[in-house]
Amino acid sequence: MQGNFTYHNPTKLYFGEDAMGHLAEELKKYGPVVMLSYGGGSIKRNGIYDAVTAALKEADKTVVEDPGVMPNPTYEKVMEGCQKVRDHKVDLILAVGGGSTIDYAKAVSASAYCEEDAWQKYWVNQKSPDSKTVPVGAVLTMVGTGSEMNGGSVITNRKEGFKRGKVFGTALFPKFAILNPRFTMTVPQYQMVAGFFDIMSHLMEQYFAGMADCTTDYINEGLMRSLIHASLIAAKNPQDYEARANIMWTATWALNTLLKCGKGGDWEVHQIGHAIGLVTDATHGMTLASVSLPYYRHVMHDGLHQFKRFAVNVWGVRPEGKSDEQVAKEGLACLEAWMTEIGVVMHSKELGVCEENLEQVADAVLILPVGYRTLTRDEVVEILRESM
Ligand code: NZQ
Ligand code: ZN
Repeated sequence: MQGNFTYHNPTKLYFGEDAMGHLAEELKKYGPVVMLSYGGGSIKRNGIYDAVTAALKEADKTVVEDPGVMPNPTYEKVMEGCQKVRDHKVDLILAVGGGSTIDYAKAVSASAYCEEDAWQKYWVNQKSPDSKTVPVGAVLTMVGTGSEMNGGSVITNRKEGFKRGKVFGTALFPKFAILNPRFTMTVPQYQMVAGFFDIMSHLMEQYFAGMADCTTDYINEGLMRSLIHASLIAAKNPQDYEARANIMWTATWALNTLLKCGKGGDWEVHQIGHAIGLVTDATHGMTLASVSLPYYRHVMHDGLHQFKRFAVNVWGVRPEGKSDEQVAKEGLACLEAWMTEIGVVMHSKELGVCEENLEQVADAVLILPVGYRTLTRDEVVEILRESM
């Protein structure tokens, strides 16, 4: 293990089929006005909305409706939410949905009383809030991002031409999160497997950094193996509760700050994915799937030791009689076979990336000076071309 770190995660999780029974008791801890933020209406069709409103009623809350949070939430929508928070003096933002809705709720929380330009302050200059924030609670309906137990808030600003993430501190982590695997059973197959790949990507972004022998990497390998196992079951039978429950739990641990303890991270796949998302509005997990193999093949030689370890410890590749490079390549071939089997998008062309918008996508990629190799812009273009 290297470096110094503090580990503290304040989100209280309620997990399982009875988790919703705890919502009313949590709501009672906050003031009378709750803003109920949700997406395009799936919660009204699958009954989650009714269960949430029953808990709000039981806790005697005044509800401010805040529907219409879109996948890849926009800064414009965040500003609308901020206005509602100020107009109604909201005491708690209850986000019911996937990563988009929870990310949006954190963005509104930090921005509602911010007297500066919130986009510049948080998503460009990466500063911390120093004005009043509003507590956020979450009922998770779609698995993948880990937003239910972290400070991440990824917002798209089309006017500025960026999709950017801000990782807020523990004050903006959801105060509580309700995780009932049954609530995710109505997620369409395409979104579900996109979420599976998002989880894998979070694990790999943190795994492919550093070369030290680190306990955190062993935890990470265990999570990857559980995800691979359960995702193969769930992709064939989405109603398999055990598999979906394991995946839900894995997703939370994949991005709740544990896996960066004692090591750095890469996150370049996410930067390229965000740029594709900005230009095409494609589903987050699919943007990552389409660029991961070209990216990892590109940086493999810079982190060969870890790519070999990935092949052996995660995929069970036998190293005897093979060069490190052969073993590492076999690991990536296993990753490719798994991706094909669960059915993710393998080519960015399918998401709308083409020669005409390639430069626009490349311009929107934030190049991070971390991971095994700092890309040049030409390399970004090369990877994007290979991903098509
Ligand atoms: O809008 P509704 O009607 O709710 O439909 C959603 C949406 O269309 C649907 N859905 C969700 N739960 C459902 C359901 N449909 C039926 N039944 C249910 N139970 O699924 C669609 C996708 O939802 P969304 O919230 O957009 O998906 P996801 O959870 O993948 O979130 C993606 C966003 O999170 C960001 C991404 O960039 C993207 O903007 N991320 C956030 C992170 C974080 N906070 O740490 C990290 C991630 O890397 C990621 O960047
Ligand atoms: Zn992600």
